Parts: sequence; C-alpha cells; structure tokens
Amino acid sequence: MAKEIGTIGVLTSGGDAPGMNAAIRAVVRQSISNGKKVKGIKRGYAGLLQEEIVDLEARSVSDTIQRGGTILQTARCPEFMTEEGQKLGAEVCRKHGIDGLIVIGGDGSFKGAQKLAANGINTVGIPGTIDLDIACTEYTIGFDTAVNTAMEAIDKVRDTSTSHERCSIIEVMGRGAGYIALWCGIANGAEDILLPEKYDYDEQKLVNNIIRNRKQGKKHHIIINAEGIGHSASMARRIEAATGLETRASILGHMQRGGSPTCKDRVYASTMGAYAVDLLCQGKSNRVVGYRHGDFVDFDIDEALAMQKEIPEYQFEICKSLSV
Ligand code: ADP
Ligand code: F6P
Repeated sequence: MAKEIGTIGVLTSGGDAPGMNAAIRAVVRQSISNGKKVKGIKRGYAGLLQEEIVDLEARSVSDTIQRGGTILQTARCPEFMTEEGQKLGAEVCRKHGIDGLIVIGGDGSFKGAQKLAANGINTVGIPGTIDLDIACTEYTIGFDTAVNTAMEAIDKVRDTSTSHERCSIIEVMGRGAGYIALWCGIANGAEDILLPEKYDYDEQKLVNNIIRNRKQGKKHHIIINAEGIGHSASMARRIEAATGLETRASILGHMQRGGSPTCKDRVYASTMGAYAVDLLCQGKSNRVVGYRHGDFVDFDIDEALAMQKEIPEYQFEICKSLSV
C-alpha cells in the first residue's frame, strides 16, 4: 500500500541554478495546498546530515520567485556518497517526520535521492543545473537563464572584437557538456564552437578557418569554447602566433550561474515543483521529473540515470553553415 505523506522536505544540491527558488516556492505552496507540512533542508545533503532543517510556511517563500541562487543554500557533500552517510540521512528524515523528500539538483544529487529511497524515504528529483546535461529531460532549471546571460556577454565581446578586428575565444560553462556552447554558438553567430562531445583537438583546422574567414572579409572571429575543453588562454596565444591576428580569451565563469531567472525558468521550475509534490502525494517514490516532447513527465530514477544524451547533430552542423 502507498505510504501516506504527512510532511514533505525539500533541498537543493550541487551547483545552484536560476529558477531553483521558483521550484522551492512551488514545492512549499503546492504541499500546503494539498494539506501537507513542509520542511526546508539547508545546504543540500550536508545540511541534512547536520540536521539544518527549518519549517517552511507559504510566507517563507514570499518575494523569492524572481531571485537567482537558492534560498536554501546548496553544497556538495562527499559524506553522502558513503552507505553510512545515506543511512544517517534517512534516519534524520525519520527523526524530523519527513516522509517524502524533493531533491533539486543534477545527476549526482539524484543518485543521493535514489539511495534515500532505498533506505525507505520517498524521493522525487527535479532537474536543476545550468548545464542541461540530464539525459531524461529536454529542460533543466537554470539553463535558459544561463544561456541568455552568456549570449548577452558574448554580444558585448563581439562588439569590441569587431572594432579591433580580432579573434576572440569565449569560454562558457557546462562541465563535461557542450549545450551552453552549442546554444551560444547559434545565438551569437559564432564562427567556431568547440564542444567536448565533438572537438577533435585539431587546432590547424581552426587556424585555417580563421585565415579563410579573414580573406572573405570577416572582421572578427568568435570561437565559443566549452569549459570541458578549457585552456582558452593558451589556445589564444597559439592561435595568435599561427594566424598573426590579435587574439583574446574571455572566461565567463560564475556570472553565468547567477541573476534573476527568465520567464521560462520561472514557469517550468514552478511547474516541476508542483508536479514533484503531486507525485509524492500519489505515494510515488524514486522518480525524477522531466520535460519531453512538450509535456511534463516523470521517470524511475534508475532508468533516468541509465539514459544517454547526445548533442543534436543537425544544430551542431547548422552552427557551422550559418556562420559562413
Ligand atoms: P549535481 O547534482 O549537479 O550532479 P554533484 O555531482 O556534485 O552535482 O552531486 C551533488 C551531491 O550529490 C554530491 O556532493 C553528493 O552529496 C551527492 N551524490 C553525488 N553522487 C552520489 C552518489 N553516487 N551516491 C550518493 N550521493 C551522491
Ligand atoms: O554544474 C554547474 C556548473 O556551473 C558547471 O557548469 C561547472 O563546471 C561547475 O558547476 C562549477 O562548479 P563550482 O561552482 O563548484 O566551481
């Protein structure tokens, strides 16, 4: 028989992402609408183990939907990778009367949720990461805001790059994934994009492309380099030496992870937050919420973690053909 949920807990884990507050707000208010109590766990799994747990009311999340970051704070917690840590986490939930837990984070955080479910706590994951690197979903909280932030920054670099007729390498985040780089490549009309999933490390091809474009009258050459490849500064020095063109590197860094969430991030994060509460109220556990083919859906966490995601080939190809 499905377990009746009285109190729902919520935590954010891994890297923060704009829109996480909208998801927390939705979890709190949808839970209250369903007659449940809500507890917020501070600093992810680290705060769970340290019992940093607070009661959340509808007013606790007032004035948060427009704010970047996470009001619950976030952390990475190596102790939670151990069986003892996971058992202790489940005990802490029971001690505080938390029968259902919503975890907002990436794949690593979902593994923690999977372990808590195995230890008797009903869990639901919500994809929260600017990297878009979660296979079961076409949307992750924060990606839309992050790519818009990066796009605006790259537009600015492009202005000065054109004025000085330079080559510019702009490094964007994404850990091992190239989705931010791909989207910025198309949105900013970059001449080259370097994605960890695709790059063959043949710098001579890049050099040839820069020289060819310059001969064809291009006044700048924008290369979007994904963090998973990195080394933008040394790459810039080598390209300058090989092409004779002034080349500069800019690393956008953590500015991509902050700021007020876009409308899409607020709406999708709110929907996923409410959806996760509904799943717990239906007695479901070990699930992760996703967005696919225009619908909000959910998957078993084990299945979700086994899925693979690839860079869309057509968009990768047109990124090159549209920048001739
Ligand atoms: P993300 O959730 O964004 O992928 P991380 O990979 O850093 O970020 O994971 C966040 C946290 O999730 C880790 O610090 C750890 O506490 C927990 N976690 C990660 N992997 C596991 C695992 N295999 N088992 C249990 N907990 C894990
Ligand atoms: O996962 C989000 C992310 O911003 C990645 O793009 C990046 O590789 C990583 O987190 C950076 O982590 P930290 O803030 O711990 O340096």
